[in-house]
Amino acid sequence: MKNTNPMFQIEPNKINTKDLHQYLLSIVGPRPIALASTIDIHNNNNLSPFSFFNIFSANPPIAIFSPARRVRNNTEKDTLKNIKQIKEVVINIVNYQLVEKASISSGEYEPEIDEFIKAGLTPIASEKIKPFRVKESPVQMECKVNQILELGKNGGAGNLIICEIVLIHINKNILNKENGIDQNKIKLVGRMGGSWYSKGFEEALFKIQKPDKNCGIGLDKIPNKIKNNPIFNESEICKLATINKLPGKHEIQLFKKSTETIEIDKIKNEHKREKKIQLKVKECLEKGNIEEAWKYLLY
Ligand SMILES: Cc1cc2nc3c(=O)[nH]c(=O)nc-3n(C[C@H](O)[C@H](O)[C@H](O)COP(=O)(O)O)c2cc1C
Repeated sequence: MKNTNPMFQIEPNKINTKDLHQYLLSIVGPRPIALASTIDIHNNNNLSPFSFFNIFSANPPIAIFSPARRVRNNTEKDTLKNIKQIKEVVINIVNYQLVEKASISSGEYEPEIDEFIKAGLTPIASEKIKPFRVKESPVQMECKVNQILELGKNGGAGNLIICEIVLIHINKNILNKENGIDQNKIKLVGRMGGSWYSKGFEEALFKIQKPDKNCGIGLDKIPNKIKNNPIFNESEICKLATINKLPGKHEIQLFKKSTETIEIDKIKNEHKREKKIQLKVKECLEKGNIEEAWKYLLY
């Protein structure tokens, strides 16, 4: 019989780890990249990138990354071995300028080989921990390792390195006037499946209006007449759903008397008037004026 299920299914225990790993890498992304700098008891430096990485808590400030047991031969990576010896790591953030060198540092060099040298990167001393920072990285986070959580014993098993951030160094060149991070200056990149990476800046960026802090009305509360009107695209309908409360009769009355609506009132042809209102709604939504968009809709 013909399989009509539109979904291709994978049962993790019925596929080999290498293939499953590739699926997961291609599905969950783009992933931020940590360039982890560690040191062993003999003071050998190690530098390797890890994209099984994120932040998980601000108070305490916790980042986690995961050096997995090698799928090929079920051995431990040097980063993990080093952290078991000295429970400190610098997480250097990888951006567009740094990503090719970070990739070079992912080579499986012998433990005594310094990947700073292999990748042409500059080690600079940390202030609170032993491992070196990467000078070229826009943000370097000095971390103490609170816990190592083994997720399994077989090849492909992750080891969560639970890191408490004790000092963050931010290159002033990536800051905006308010000392916040300028996303177009930090130029973050993400790792995807296979050899793919993604950019997180310039035309790749877009904004989504946060729903009202008291919750948006939701798509279900938008009248079908508006929801099903082909003039509005799905994104515009989603923006309309972020309002917490529709403007009341009194607000609409005031709006009718405002200068905003003079142009509309001049239009006598019903169809043309409707078109003009719809264009106004679209304009408001584009500018993020959700409440005004609703005032036009309820006009
Ligand atoms: C961008 C990038 C991200 C990576 N992410 C991971 C990861 O999250 N976990 C992992 O085990 N290996 C990851 N790797 C592979 C390791 O960097 C690689 O195995 C490296 O040789 C480990 O070095 P080490 O033995 O010195 O610790 C990644 C490689 C690249 C290029």
